[in-house]
Amino acid sequence: MTITRALKLMRLFWRMHRRRPTFVSYNISTVCNEACPICSVWQRERGEELSMVEMERIFRDLKRFGFMVVEISGGEPFLRQDLFDAFALLDRLGFLYTTATNGTLLTPDSINRLRNARGLLQLAVSLDTLDRRLYQRLRGRDLLPRLLENLELLQRARLPQPVKLNMVMNRFNYRETPALLEFAKRHAFALSVFPVNLGEGFQHRSNPEEFIPDATERREMADLFRNLAQLRKGGEPLWEYSGFYEKAAEYVEGRPVGPCDAGGLYMDLHADGGVSVCVDQPVIANLRDRSIASVWPQLRGEEEAVQRCSATTPCFYTCTYNISLTARNEAAFLRETARVRIRQLAGF
Ligand SMILES: C[S@@+](CC[C@H](N)C(=O)[O-])C[C@H]1O[C@@H](n2cnc3c(N)ncnc32)[C@H](O)[C@@H]1O
Repeated sequence: MTITRALKLMRLFWRMHRRRPTFVSYNISTVCNEACPICSVWQRERGEELSMVEMERIFRDLKRFGFMVVEISGGEPFLRQDLFDAFALLDRLGFLYTTATNGTLLTPDSINRLRNARGLLQLAVSLDTLDRRLYQRLRGRDLLPRLLENLELLQRARLPQPVKLNMVMNRFNYRETPALLEFAKRHAFALSVFPVNLGEGFQHRSNPEEFIPDATERREMADLFRNLAQLRKGGEPLWEYSGFYEKAAEYVEGRPVGPCDAGGLYMDLHADGGVSVCVDQPVIANLRDRSIASVWPQLRGEEEAVQRCSATTPCFYTCTYNISLTARNEAAFLRETARVRIRQLAGF
């Protein structure tokens, strides 16, 4: 790790500790080559996307304001032909960034370019199941064989950045959790597990009724999350801090989870430049014609609404809760993460 990167990470944790605006979740595109029934980004009409020129102006403004990390999502980011230009731009502006992908469009060339993507903190590849038919049901496309081939390529490439697999736990796949952890370990990846976001919402709370678990399923999922918390404490390669898994257990049991730092530590930037406190809250302005400094008081003004939402809405969107929980438990997060890394280096 370079000194610059180490200093950035220290500053990042300091800002998290003080709950300063730090993370931007950015849907770089709304278009997707999959069609997950739990996600409505792809179901909405194709919206405008920021050009590179617009991105440069907006992200320069966000950097000046203090934001440090951009979490790139979508839609499917790898459908954007200029994705690596966007990476280079963010690095040039001084951001660290992460990318989520369904992994089905990766190629030897793009994997090679990922290797050289400076500033990339982590690559997240969605893998909800190892069962082809279930994959088709959860992802709307029969692309598991392609994804598994690409994961082999990724493993062989041994990227310098950590690769994690994203499993959205729901009533159809939760029994596969141990198998997915084994799969991740075999490939030297980490596993991130979060519960499907239940209830109504703008983007990631649009779950069809068939995803609502019954009482037995809720109990079994909660047990699994509590077990993940123990495994993470013991150094298994799970991505989230153990406190996240403990809260996830409470969430699937139907208890309110708070705290939520949407509109404080974190905000959402939509594909067309719209901003909202979080992915499931309405857009309040567009950064194509407003500066973040002029919009921020309005976003902060949403705090009461965010706390009300957090207390009353069934939401456990990982972007917000993982950040909020880690910000309050940085020492434990770092201690646990060091244990995971040591075990990984020792080849356990
Ligand atoms: C919206 S996708 C976009 C990036 C990419 N296309 C992918 O599949 O990873 C980002 C992550 O959000 C998750 N997601 C979508 N809808 C969700 C929901 N209702 N609850 C929880 N996670 C959700 C996806 O499974 C994926 O892991």
